[in-house]
Amino acid sequence: MTLTRRHLLMGFTSVVGASAAIAIPVEPLTRRGTPQLTTGPFYPLDRPFDQDWDLTRVPGRPGVAQGVIMDLHGKVTTEQGRPVPGAILDVWQTNGLGRYHHPSDTVGKPIDPNFQGSAVIRADVDGDYRIRTVVPLPYERRQRHIHFDVRGEKRLLVTQMFFPGEPNERDTLFPGLRNEVLQRAVTAELVGIDNGVKTFRWNIVLAGE
Ligand SMILES: [Fe+2]
Repeated sequence: MTLTRRHLLMGFTSVVGASAAIAIPVEPLTRRGTPQLTTGPFYPLDRPFDQDWDLTRVPGRPGVAQGVIMDLHGKVTTEQGRPVPGAILDVWQTNGLGRYHHPSDTVGKPIDPNFQGSAVIRADVDGDYRIRTVVPLPYERRQRHIHFDVRGEKRLLVTQMFFPGEPNERDTLFPGLRNEVLQRAVTAELVGIDNGVKTFRWNIVLAGE
């Protein structure tokens, strides 16, 4: 039996077997798109290092980035909960010392030559993505965050991911998200700590995809 949009709108699907129809609950009908947030002044102008999923290592250098190592994974979906296979995620953030790899970052924190600074990765066929990076530092009136541009087949989402358990109400952008649902949508979830490495999950919903 082919699932139609009407079936999804009904909130369940009937699978017709030899003699009976069984109602199977399906995912919520729609979910909100992840809110847009500004690109900010530090979008990478150049990318001198590789752009792979592991921002904590740079080819040709034996060292590891300074700071607290973290893993982040999640799924990119549409508002209907369908995975967005091959979504392209462009990611950038401060290094573990609080500095962007960007000439406009003049706060005086050091560049970390072992930190990649940005990455361009592709979600897999199930819309799943993963990066290894360092926990970014707050700067000026910003709390910890990671910048994301996420491109599906139709939509480009520019946004930022925040961390749980942080004073995000003091951030310059976070309180502008009008309610808790929107604020939760840009906040990762801590799912574990293993050997000091924190693992976070953050799912991304592309509105209009
Ligand atoms: Fe930023």
